[in-house]
Amino acid sequence: MSVVSEVVSQNREYWERLAPHRHGEPVEFFVNGGSALTDDELAAIGDLRGRRVLQLACSVGDEALSFAQRGADVTAVDIAPSHLATGRAKAEALGVDVTFVLQDMMTLDSEITGFDVIYISWGGLCWVPTLTEWTRLVADRLNPGGLLVISEHHPLWEILTVRGDNVLSVSGDYFGSDRDGYTDPLKAPEITRTLGTPDVPHRSFVWSISSVVTAVLTAGLTLRSLQESPVTEMYPGLGEQAMSIPATYLLTASADQAPV
Ligand SMILES: C[S@@+](CC[C@H](N)C(=O)[O-])C[C@H]1O[C@@H](n2cnc3c(N)ncnc32)[C@H](O)[C@@H]1O
Repeated sequence: MSVVSEVVSQNREYWERLAPHRHGEPVEFFVNGGSALTDDELAAIGDLRGRRVLQLACSVGDEALSFAQRGADVTAVDIAPSHLATGRAKAEALGVDVTFVLQDMMTLDSEITGFDVIYISWGGLCWVPTLTEWTRLVADRLNPGGLLVISEHHPLWEILTVRGDNVLSVSGDYFGSDRDGYTDPLKAPEITRTLGTPDVPHRSFVWSISSVVTAVLTAGLTLRSLQESPVTEMYPGLGEQAMSIPATYLLTASADQAPV
């Protein structure tokens, strides 16, 4: 077994233990006009009607449902069957079509291809073990002119921890990609703080902005936009100072148009 497939199979077990406890937004949220996509994401992607969208590491599929509600033809993949089951149940209750598929985003089946948009978000990219391998696969599955959209926690946020009022400490290594070696309990996702971390090996990664940009360019994609944003609530206790450091980023990159 390769190192990548070993990491993925450990992570599958980890996520499958957590998945039955994660539900995302309730169906009523979507019925009442709620969207799991941000205004910035929607502005970057544009009109979704009739476009083929692939969401990677979709979890319970909240963003996939929002894409489908806007008229996209959506495929959503994840390695945790219970996440996909929750997503399918929500899609059925909402009456929208999303094709949820059990897939490792590092080795997508060959028929999962031909997309206008490939999207990953909010704690998805940190489960990619080898970034350039992943961007190459993504580039291969985009249609000419298609867009890769990465909407993520900023890697700087990943390694900074607020400890009391206005005290910020460095709890990870921005330049070293192995996130779990530095895991700070204060940075653990809410679900593992509540349920405890599943007692199985797992590995995730911090990908610096330069490593993401380099991987995107190495895959032959064209960088279209890169936006870093502050989010005060992501640094609770820092108050207004949180407006001076990044919390999230949104990157878009396109595959070359077919020659005319
Ligand atoms: C924090 S969730 C992702 C984010 C989603 N946007 C959300 O907000 O819920 C991380 C997801 O990545 C999935 N995952 C981890 N490694 C994966 C892989 N190799 N292929 C596909 N999905 C993977 C997990 O099963 C989990 O559902």
